[in-house]
Amino acid sequence: MEVIRDIPELRDWRESVEFDARRVGFVPTMGNLHAGHLALIDHAKRRADTVIVSIFVNPLQFEDPDDLARYPRTEERDLELLERAGVAAVFLPTEPELYPHGQKDIVRVDAGPLGDRLEGAARPGHFTGVATVVTKLFNLVRPDVAVFGEKDAQQVAVIRRLVADLDMTVELAIEPTHREPDGLAISSRNRFLDAEQRRQAPAVHRALKRAAESLAGGHTVAATLAGARHWLTQQGFVVDYLVYCDDERFEEQTRLVAHGRLLVAARLGRVRLIDNLPVHSPHPASVGSDR
Ligand code: PAJ
Repeated sequence: MEVIRDIPELRDWRESVEFDARRVGFVPTMGNLHAGHLALIDHAKRRADTVIVSIFVNPLQFEDPDDLARYPRTEERDLELLERAGVAAVFLPTEPELYPHGQKDIVRVDAGPLGDRLEGAARPGHFTGVATVVTKLFNLVRPDVAVFGEKDAQQVAVIRRLVADLDMTVELAIEPTHREPDGLAISSRNRFLDAEQRRQAPAVHRALKRAAESLAGGHTVAATLAGARHWLTQQGFVVDYLVYCDDERFEEQTRLVAHGRLLVAARLGRVRLIDNLPVHSPHPASVGSDR
């Protein structure tokens, strides 16, 4: 496995791969790798001849300096996992390597209105930071296919729009959310949960599952969301949002749509958990409407 730390080296690697006409699969990450990331890598291996992973804790997408400072950095262990996973190369740039002019005055890729909703409203500038770094990484790596996780469904929607609106040629592949046996979505942030919070945490997924069943059972969107929010609050969470949205624009819907999604962000102490569940309705608005 090649460990690449600067841009000239990455360009050399990319040229050598080009010479062999191999199809490049790319998995961008912020490191502290877990089973969810490894599933993205497996997906990339199925879709490409050679796989490159990037590890970069992108300061541009953190609006909270404390959050950035305490983001877990576990490079040695990550490299071992990547080696074992059969990755061809890993790109680990430093901050000055990717942002040689600092972060303040640089050109950014605006994520548009989609980037201002939900996670974007809770974390202003977050999706512009994501869209900017992903554009830079795509320009550097020039992947044929890039793999992202459904765990961050709004991020997937932003990247789809980024690729479509800026006429990028990269194919996108989406891997479903990987969960612990009790349903908790695997996340680097789970390590911040204490034992009691870890016991409470699966309620986030349970609330979404119950809400999906409630919608399927013909309950209105409003009643379903109110019930789920109430239940999560009772379980000890502070709910940032719990909504039902269309899967493209992430606009809140009051009636069932063909491709909808339940999304939640909820806090246990200082730990903020997000999760989502697709809700595909064969008969949009025929059930669960407010009429
Ligand atoms: P990070 O949080 O490290 O996640 C890297 C990729 O792994 C993302 O596509 C994310 O959706 C996916 N992922 C995380 N947990 C997952 C799970 N439990 N199941 C399936 N996929 C999961 O997302 C980012 O980094 C950054 O925003 C990035 C795209 C790298 C840009 O900086």
